[in-house]
Amino acid sequence: MIKPIYLDNQATTPVDSRVKDAMIPYLSDQFGNASSIHHSFGRHAKEAVENSRKILANEINARPKEIVFTSGATESINLAIRGICEQNSGIGHIITQATEHKAVLDTCDAMAKKGWDITILPVYTDGRVDPSHVKNAIRDNTALVAIMHANNEIGTIQPIAEIGSICRNSRATFLVDASQSYGKLPIDVETMQIDFLAATAHKIYGPKGIGLLYVKGKSPKLKMTTQITGGGHEYGLRSGTLPVHQIVGFGKAIEICNTMENEKMAILQKMLIDGIVTAHPDVQLNGSQEYRLGNNINISFPGLDAETLIIKMKGIACSTGSACSTTNLEPSHVLKAIALNNEIAHSSIRFSLGRFNTKEEILTAIEEIGCILSEMKDKSPRNLLILN
Ligand SMILES: Cc1ncc(COP(=O)(O)O)c(C=O)c1O
Repeated sequence: MIKPIYLDNQATTPVDSRVKDAMIPYLSDQFGNASSIHHSFGRHAKEAVENSRKILANEINARPKEIVFTSGATESINLAIRGICEQNSGIGHIITQATEHKAVLDTCDAMAKKGWDITILPVYTDGRVDPSHVKNAIRDNTALVAIMHANNEIGTIQPIAEIGSICRNSRATFLVDASQSYGKLPIDVETMQIDFLAATAHKIYGPKGIGLLYVKGKSPKLKMTTQITGGGHEYGLRSGTLPVHQIVGFGKAIEICNTMENEKMAILQKMLIDGIVTAHPDVQLNGSQEYRLGNNINISFPGLDAETLIIKMKGIACSTGSACSTTNLEPSHVLKAIALNNEIAHSSIRFSLGRFNTKEEILTAIEEIGCILSEMKDKSPRNLLILN
């Protein structure tokens, strides 16, 4: 069976063979526990962990000591939000925005159940939050502002440096979910005035199950309460034996991220958009034209049902833009936040490009999409599933 063309790289990426090769020794001969520094096995493991920590920190202009390894961005976000809230005596206020990942929104919701006040800021139709809205929402008791760098569904990039400066001036702690941007967009935690940052390896051709939380260590030194207690690993912030092979893979993944890839991605992105628009001129590109990740295309096909379209596109692996399933007919919270009506939201598909996509694959995908669209359009409109 021919494998479909993989256009779902924002969900996860394949592990790069260079990453896999770097990891393998740590799954065999180099199996030491990085805490067992009394013998060479442990010392070698620790050295490998610290080497990765340095590379991963360097990517965002942080110090190695400011990097805490976790199981992924979801855990990093939970650690930051819950850890900051618990550190604060009493109940406070959190600001976030409507298109955040559920890891942020649901964790804020959990804090709301404990009595915290949560402000969820709206976004414009391009998915951008207005920094002045952040400024106006900050109160004396605002403990945390959580704004993502780039969105996983529509690719919109937020004005992080501007929001960072507002937070620093107001002494509110600033958490950035950089799951979709780490290794893809330039990030400097100093100039962007970021206090906490979450990232994950599986979006950058690294292994699943490893992530990091950047915790600003320079003055003012930030405090948060650990969520996983035990052996006191990771400066006491996250206990548990370190998965050395995963950490080595994460380090290798960031080492081989190359900004040149953005240029290639932009060419493929334009090719795919142009190809789809030619086949179906009344499509609607969702998100920002200007502030958009180079690997994201979120597009609505008015009058067509995205689920049906995806089932027909057997040669392409991609995602619907809405969380529509037999148990959930609600459009995704992101598409709702950018004010798409239900019909348009249910006609939305996310194609996300990656390092291993080729021009030939994009041309094949365009051809397949074109054929399916004409086939669906040829049918009577009554045969098209239009959801309200
Ligand atoms: C924006 C964003 N935040 C958080 C996460 C969660 O990351 P992880 O899978 O590493 O827990 C994802 C992954 O889908 C994401 O896209």
